Amino acid sequence: MSARQDEREIPQHIAVIMDGNGRWAKKQGAMRIFGHRRGVQAVRDITEGCAELGVAHLTLYAFSTENWSRPKKEVDGLMSLLIKTINSELPTLMKNKVRLTAIGDLQGLSLGVHKKLLGAIDTTRENKGLNLILALNYSGKWDLTQAFKAICGEAIKGTLKLEAIDEGLVADYLSTKGIPDPELLIRTSGEMRISNFLLWQSAYSEFFFTDVLWPDFRKKHLDLAIDSFNGRERRFGKTSEQLDFQ
Ligand code: FPP
Repeated sequence: MSARQDEREIPQHIAVIMDGNGRWAKKQGAMRIFGHRRGVQAVRDITEGCAELGVAHLTLYAFSTENWSRPKKEVDGLMSLLIKTINSELPTLMKNKVRLTAIGDLQGLSLGVHKKLLGAIDTTRENKGLNLILALNYSGKWDLTQAFKAICGEAIKGTLKLEAIDEGLVADYLSTKGIPDPELLIRTSGEMRISNFLLWQSAYSEFFFTDVLWPDFRKKHLDLAIDSFNGRERRFGKTSEQLDFQ
């Protein structure tokens, strides 16, 4: 079930591949990290927009398992930006009842980032508003692999029977356990691929691609994405005629 606002259906879960920070910086003749810094303004605006619209979950692809292969200077810059942003935004998250959570191989983050993140997650855990999910050191293949390992581990121990393994059980072993699949997945900057994001969870997501670079993405663009989502016929494998008779 999705929330309704005016006549529009508001997705319960929106996922975003925030792309184009580097290109945005290049256009200004600035270092890539400058684009990431400006990207934080978009994060703030879209988080606020989703909270205002009544979106329940917003997942932001902030750092993929593949992003470690970027130059060390950029990786270090992104990690310190994350710590700085958590410090500066925590009071606003509390004020707006936003709960911060994270998915990904969090143990693989540096001790400083890990500690800061867990601290913020703990501070906001009772907030009942938007669930802001940061995908950090995340990839869809990592998520599926860790789920397979856990499932096989249980099966080998004998605590899980093979017949008990179905789609619902697999979903419960993913890092997104308990969170509905995203109905809408947005990618900025004109690229049209999934880039190892929520591979299982996006099976039936509606995709919205825009040429807008992430640092320029604002509530008005989010609105266009939601309008586009509302124009889609979500068939889930059925025919249009079958939907008419539901
Ligand atoms: C992709 O742009 C962006 C990232 C890999 C990082 C996203 C990070 C932020 C928006 C800032 C920090 C976020 C939070 C939640 C505090 P790109 O660098 O791949 O851009 P390009 O494709 O133009 O090079």
